[in-house]
Amino acid sequence: MQRNRPWVTVNVAATADGKLAPVDRGLTNFGGAEDRALMEQLRAAADAVLIGSGTLKAEDPPLLILNQALREARQVQRGGPHPLNVTVCSHLPATLAEMRFFLHPETEKLVFTSVQTPPELRALAARYAAVEVVPLDAAGHLDLAEVMRRLAEKGVQNLLLEGGGELNFSMLAAGLVDELYLTVCPLLFGGRTAPTPFDGEGLPTSQVRRLDLLSYRPGHQGQVFLHYRLQSPDANLAGHKNTDQDHHAEFES
Ligand SMILES: NC(=O)c1ccc[n+]([C@@H]2O[C@H](COP(=O)([O-])OP(=O)(O)OC[C@H]3O[C@@H](n4cnc5c(N)ncnc54)[C@H](OP(=O)(O)O)[C@@H]3O)[C@@H](O)[C@H]2O)c1
Repeated sequence: MQRNRPWVTVNVAATADGKLAPVDRGLTNFGGAEDRALMEQLRAAADAVLIGSGTLKAEDPPLLILNQALREARQVQRGGPHPLNVTVCSHLPATLAEMRFFLHPETEKLVFTSVQTPPELRALAARYAAVEVVPLDAAGHLDLAEVMRRLAEKGVQNLLLEGGGELNFSMLAAGLVDELYLTVCPLLFGGRTAPTPFDGEGLPTSQVRRLDLLSYRPGHQGQVFLHYRLQSPDANLAGHKNTDQDHHAEFES
């Protein structure tokens, strides 16, 4: 059956207290070399990588594969060394012509934006990237179901979602996330405003999502690498009685 959206895999590195960045956003890429290697393997298997505009502005990352063997294998298998670099950004930054994401010579780029970006800025972005205008949803964000539909039309079957927490949550809430790679890192950031893997408004109790654990392994620098698949939205907590007895029966048997 032809899917009208890509298979979506989220990859995040979080601290032991569940944060993606410190409150001052001063530290990125804290997962270590093994986490970088995992990220590159996931990128190599993906047709496209998607980031939100918060991550674009905070990190300005070209979404690359640096490992030469992976790059060469991907070139042979998929016709390019790096996955398509995609961002969703209803207001494109005026400084885009100075940003590494836009300037990197080896990447193909696709930007989803809205009519809120002035036409002259959209024209500037179009010098570096394919630019598509999509409608806004009821919350005033880009309509992610439409973004997924357009990516599928372009042949994107496997999409790697690399955050941040606001975009990850909107994708989750829209039922657009299938798998999760979570690297738990031996750090504590604290801070109620520090981003977490899924921020946004949060899901109501009736809609919380269950995960199946597919694999786990310890890293060499104290990390834990977890791989989950999301269960169907119907497999939520329906019938859960929220008692200690249930908890022990479910998790300790
Ligand atoms: N540790 C990790 O693995 C990791 C990974 C990624 C990011 N990070 C960190 O996370 C932080 C950024 O995360 P963030 O949550 O602030 O930003 P984010 O999720 O990267 O981007 C959110 C922005 O994306 C745009 N967007 C467009 N459509 C959207 C939609 N339907 N739903 C939600 N957002 C939509 C919005 O900006 P517009 O109004 O412009 O459309 C929104 O403000 C940075 O500090 C970064 O370093 C860490």
